[in-house]
Amino acid sequence: MNILVTGGMGFIGSHTVVELLENNDEVIIIDNLINSKIDVLDKIEKITGKKPAFYQINLCDKDLVEKVFSNHQIDVVIHFAGLKAVGESVEKPLLYYQNNLISTLNLLEVMKNHNCKKLVFSSSATVYGSPKFLPIKEDFPLSTTNPYGSTKLFIEHMLKDLYTSDPEWSIAILRYFNPIGAHPSYLIGENPNGIPNNLMPYIVKVAIKQLDHLNIFGNDYQTKDGTGVRDYIHVVDLAKGHLKAVQKVMTTNKIDCYNLGTGNGYSVLEMVETFEQVNNIEVPYQIVARRSGDIAQCYADPTYAKQELGFECEKTLEDMVKDSYQYIINNK
Ligand code: UFG
Repeated sequence: MNILVTGGMGFIGSHTVVELLENNDEVIIIDNLINSKIDVLDKIEKITGKKPAFYQINLCDKDLVEKVFSNHQIDVVIHFAGLKAVGESVEKPLLYYQNNLISTLNLLEVMKNHNCKKLVFSSSATVYGSPKFLPIKEDFPLSTTNPYGSTKLFIEHMLKDLYTSDPEWSIAILRYFNPIGAHPSYLIGENPNGIPNNLMPYIVKVAIKQLDHLNIFGNDYQTKDGTGVRDYIHVVDLAKGHLKAVQKVMTTNKIDCYNLGTGNGYSVLEMVETFEQVNNIEVPYQIVARRSGDIAQCYADPTYAKQELGFECEKTLEDMVKDSYQYIINNK
């Protein structure tokens, strides 16, 4: 199959491209490299022995997207591209709405023009807002607490309206929980510029002494030890979930949402302890005030994804913390 992957040079995108190439799919990547580096392409080739087609373009430029669809007969699109920093989205809401919504509208219009109506969309557990019950099921009420989350939710609405207007579309909306880890080659992984926003990249930078200590945002939540609980999922498992979703959209005509998580919730303190034990290294931390907008607990009910997609995670928490650390050691 010819699969267009937008944002294919990013953390989750690059891991998914590797799995697709290893599955003998043809991959065409669109990425503007705003949050990734060109050398990811060589690393993908090193891992798989194959080089995907690559276009460094912005999806907000519709004419350029048109050209890609004219150059390739695309069977299905996996749409990762988008800005994703929660804090930045609060400071620059217009940038987030402009970028994430216009790019997606352009992509959908061009897909429609080329009669390509199969789509896998990267959504996020952030669309569940502050869930009333746990574990989180796909039919829970949706809401958001920041502009980034709103862009994901608006796009979900757009996709549902699009499907209603034309049931020839087939769309899988994947709601990711907290991806961490790295490819076991340690050639690709997550290494954000500057001070990381997310827990695991921050822990790793403390471990390699690029940062002094971890700030734990609150220990007075209603959780097992007072610190925030999340559903961490290995990025390679998450990437494999996309292959299952592609199979689904190729064989059905429907729109549906799937949680991609393990179903296990771990606290910040549990993450720190596991990281220290597995990697045999200390991660100094201090407890500070809660981070605004954070919720106490968020973890998936993965039953529906298992039933409908046959999706199951294989990697353990130990694999996740080991691979996150090893990737950075190999790419300092
Ligand atoms: N945390 C700290 N210190 C840090 C960073 C995080 O204590 O320096 C804590 C947070 O308070 C939270 C947990 O670690 O309890 C996880 O925080 P992350 O920032 O790693 O992840 P979030 O769950 O807040 O958000 C992530 C993505 C969002 C996505 C969401 C989906 O950043 O884009 O998961 O569930 F929407």
